[in-house]
Amino acid sequence: VTGAGQAGAAPFDLAGAGVVVTGAGHGIGAALARRFAAEGARVVVNDLNADAAHAVAKEIGGTALPGDAADTAGVAGLVDGARAALGAIDLYCANAGVGVGGSEEAPEADWDLAWQVNVMAHVRAARLLTGPWLERGRGHWISTVSAAGLLTMLDAAPYSVTKHAALAFAEWLAVTYGHRGLTVQALCPQGVRTHMLDETGEAGRILLQPGAIEPEQVAQTVVEALADGRFLILPHPEVARMYAHRAADTDRWLRGLGRVQQEIDAAR
Ligand SMILES: NC(=O)c1ccc[n+]([C@@H]2O[C@H](COP(=O)([O-])OP(=O)(O)OC[C@H]3O[C@@H](n4cnc5c(N)ncnc54)[C@H](O)[C@@H]3O)[C@@H](O)[C@H]2O)c1
Repeated sequence: VTGAGQAGAAPFDLAGAGVVVTGAGHGIGAALARRFAAEGARVVVNDLNADAAHAVAKEIGGTALPGDAADTAGVAGLVDGARAALGAIDLYCANAGVGVGGSEEAPEADWDLAWQVNVMAHVRAARLLTGPWLERGRGHWISTVSAAGLLTMLDAAPYSVTKHAALAFAEWLAVTYGHRGLTVQALCPQGVRTHMLDETGEAGRILLQPGAIEPEQVAQTVVEALADGRFLILPHPEVARMYAHRAADTDRWLRGLGRVQQEIDAAR
């Protein structure tokens, strides 16, 4: 597609590809794993919840590699196991995430969990992947970020901050390695009907529920985006307009969201 995608981004062919999806036992990750398998990919299904990882892997004829996709040992085990199962990892989807809500008063442990799973999981996986990818001159990475990484999520400071950081890391990977054959994409949905959405409270009810889509629709947009390598994958097209509006008139954008926050405060 002329004009779309990053420098050097080639269409990604899922047929026969070796793919890893973290947090694929439920929700968006499970939908990605199912869709990738349906397109002919060989899929490694990771999840902290071993039963869920095994169930999805069995359903799609993939390989279950349950475990923590965030800590150093877990990431190393996953990448080693995936290489053993797939030969090479062609596409890594850093999808596992935690919807940690609260304010600056959220406990240190909550901030740390959000930081480890939503950000450091990506850094640790990239450490193990970029070397071999650069050596063979290609590699494909998708971070599941969130519209919260482009905008913000009310009532959820740890989530918003760490999703901004995840987007920053994806952007950094793209500009650093794009011209050396790596393609990096950032998936930034708004509301998606999963367990996570059920737990977003009043802010989720007002901001996310009305336009919420199914995980399968997210997977459809991802498959389309794999064909052109565009950096931002936006299953909710309105997010592009909001992102532009935020940049063009930041104060107006903040005032608007502040009014929504007042609505949430009043409902408490
Ligand atoms: N649901 C939404 O509205 C929405 C919107 C934007 C972005 N996202 C993002 O999508 C991603 C997937 O979320 P979802 O909505 O499918 O939620 P979900 O809760 O349905 O699924 C997340 C899965 O990740 C697993 N997981 C959590 N921590 C893990 C870890 N350390 N290692 C391995 N697996 C782990 C969980 O066990 C769970 O199965 C997350 O990164 C989330 O932030 C979700």
